[in-house]
Amino acid sequence: MKEQLLQIKADAEAKLAAVDGDAALEQVRIEFLGKKGALTAVLRGMGKLTAEERPVIGQLANEIRAAIEEEIAEKKEALKTAALEKRLLEETIDVTAPGTTFPVGRRHPLDQVEQTLCDIFRSMGFTIAEGPEVEYDTYNFQKLNIPENHPARDTQDTFYITDKVLLRSQTSPVQVRVMEKQRPPIRIISPGRVYRSDAVDATHSPMFHQLEGLVVDKGITMGDLKGMLETFARQMFGDSTKLRFRPHHFPFTEPSAEVDVSCFVCGGKGCRVCKNEGWIEILGAGMVHPNVLRGCDIDPEEYSGFAFGMGIERIVMIKYAIDDMRNLYENDLRFLSQF
Ligand code: DAH
Repeated sequence: MKEQLLQIKADAEAKLAAVDGDAALEQVRIEFLGKKGALTAVLRGMGKLTAEERPVIGQLANEIRAAIEEEIAEKKEALKTAALEKRLLEETIDVTAPGTTFPVGRRHPLDQVEQTLCDIFRSMGFTIAEGPEVEYDTYNFQKLNIPENHPARDTQDTFYITDKVLLRSQTSPVQVRVMEKQRPPIRIISPGRVYRSDAVDATHSPMFHQLEGLVVDKGITMGDLKGMLETFARQMFGDSTKLRFRPHHFPFTEPSAEVDVSCFVCGGKGCRVCKNEGWIEILGAGMVHPNVLRGCDIDPEEYSGFAFGMGIERIVMIKYAIDDMRNLYENDLRFLSQF
């Protein structure tokens, strides 16, 4: 019996040495230590032993059981360590490998310029007002001193939703919306989309952007308009920029002017950007017409104001010497990624 027990120990050790996973380990445990295992089978035969032999064999059996149990526990530990080491080895990351780069977008040049314009005017105390793109005929035209059948409507033909509702052809109606709600002093700008029924070409689009400005207070003069626009133009186009006011007509301002800046490329000598003029037209402006003030319940005897409006696409095209406006709408990344 002693030999049998020693054989079991040797067999168990041999099998344990070959075990390579938890399932196989459990098999060995059942095979040698389980209820129907080899060790139990031997112990069942102990009844046949003599009284002297029994404690000796009993002790040996217990030692062997303890030894096998310990070896199983050791093996279990070893398997665990091996598994961890294997995982660590497999999951090593090479921190020096080049990463995946994600393309980062950027702001559209129209938006960049709009932000610059807003920053400049904000620094002069203007706040930003908004108005609807779907507008009433009254606000887009009539309250701006452009009655029905006025020839000024021809140059601003737009898209009509009904007889009385249209897509605004200019940001000027925001002037009226602000003056109806707010009492002077007023100092606002309003950037936004406008629409006209123009065919698409290098300088026209049925949708484009304008930035409107309005100042109303006691004692506002054309001198204020000129000073403010000069400050703006220097910040936008450079310190040596000069302004030129040409008399013009807008129904909602009197007097009215078209305003040019000296060419910031050639300084006024004449070049491709200014088409040899030395000057570049950038906006329309004037003193708010008394009829417009009165229509908004502001007394023109007490208050006066100036207004101006510019096309943002135009400013972008001048600034970056872009000769075809369509580039601004086609979203071709080869174009856009230059800004
Ligand atoms: N709204 C005019 C246009 O679209 C531009 C303009 C001219 C706006 C003179 C003004 C202004 O506020 O005073 O052609």
